[in-house]
Amino acid sequence: MDGLRRSGYQARMVALAAAQTDSLVRSRRAVGFWLSVVALMIAAMVVIGGLTRLTGSGLSITEWDPVMGAIPPLSTADWLDAFHKYQRIPQYIHEHQGMTLVQFQFIYWWEWTHRLLGRLIGAVFLLPFLFFAWTRAITRREIPRMIVLFALGALQGFVGWWMVESGLETRVSVSQYRLAIHLGVALVLFAAIFWTALEYFRIPSPLEPGERGRGEGALTPAHSRRDVAQISSPPHPSPLPHMRGGEGVALIFPVLVYLQMLLGALVAGLHAGLIYNTWPSMDGRFLPEHPFFSAPWWINFFENPGLAQFDHRIGAYIVALSAIGMWWSAMRAKAAGPARTSAYAILIITFAQIPLGIATLLDQAPLLLSALHQLTALALLSAALWHAFEMLRSLRVKDGSFSAAKAARAALPVSRV
Ligand code: HEM
Repeated sequence: MDGLRRSGYQARMVALAAAQTDSLVRSRRAVGFWLSVVALMIAAMVVIGGLTRLTGSGLSITEWDPVMGAIPPLSTADWLDAFHKYQRIPQYIHEHQGMTLVQFQFIYWWEWTHRLLGRLIGAVFLLPFLFFAWTRAITRREIPRMIVLFALGALQGFVGWWMVESGLETRVSVSQYRLAIHLGVALVLFAAIFWTALEYFRIPSPLEPGERGRGEGALTPAHSRRDVAQISSPPHPSPLPHMRGGEGVALIFPVLVYLQMLLGALVAGLHAGLIYNTWPSMDGRFLPEHPFFSAPWWINFFENPGLAQFDHRIGAYIVALSAIGMWWSAMRAKAAGPARTSAYAILIITFAQIPLGIATLLDQAPLLLSALHQLTALALLSAALWHAFEMLRSLRVKDGSFSAAKAARAALPVSRV
């Protein structure tokens, strides 16, 4: 009788643990989904930023007011005031003399939309974050990382203004260095949020002891481990059963793509897409004319448009060769599941991006192609991060540092047996 009562009690506890596991998985997926939305919004922000630059709109708002700046000019007097401020900067004086108010409004709306989206991203990050922290879908241990992500977003707003400022005094466009830093911080933010989203989708919660279930009765370790194993183990014990050392390459590849994107920002910032519009040669040469014209020689890598374009071309070939190498080693190791899919994604996106870059160059950086080239670069960065994540995950599965048992200890109620 006593035995019967105990087994009924145990069954209820296992059901409770299963329900808890279910709700844990659901709440972590919700956080992952929210972070994916934020990452998508940042991607849209990067593309709109590129379009703002390509339409020559980036300097149209000459002030920075993070709060009140959300309100656009509402009356004719307000519009004239904003236009007069723009008429004082070198870009208007040297390049846009005679611009009409309607033409000014066109470039103003681009920059205003770019900044508004930035504010919106801040709100879409902050409000759900507070909710998820309150409901413990984000654990106490995970909160500092979220705060760092939010601070990085705020820093990006400041870097954006710092970039715009460089085009208000003496130059007719922004500094290519600040443009590259602005894109660089945006990409770090995008990568960090994307990676964190993957963690919420693919790794169970590292709950602190104080946050584990309270008041549960006897639950055998065997039960709890088996339940959590269902969410923590990948469909295959290791997606790359025979792989050795491929993880290192997979981690370096996103860095290569990142650097190549920064080189792209230098090309864009130096308007280097408007020269040497031939491929594979640069107007019949391998190197641009006078590649080391300025002194010191190394400054040419950052300030000589021809050399910046040359670097971006070479960078693309290095990325392409690395993508083939990674795909090949993944296939050789019989990669399975997401590790295999992401290796294919890298290969396909790389070989879409290169002709797109060439077309952008041959056509002197038209609006649509340039925006598509930038969007595809983001897709490549995402695929590279995803692949690195899966490889690292498989390594942790192999190591046992990410085993079902460990996840069970962390995620389920403490057994009293
Ligand atoms: C994996 C390969 C590549 C990646 C990841 C990549 C990435 C990028 C990025 C992110 C930008 C835009 C920066 C910005 O707007 O701030 C850019 C610009 C550019 N890229 Fe690439 N690129 C690649 C290959 C190529 C190739 C092969 C070419 C041509 C040979 C090329 C030509 C250009 C040109 C002309 C621009 C300037 C467009 C503009 O002024 O808006 N790219 N690239």
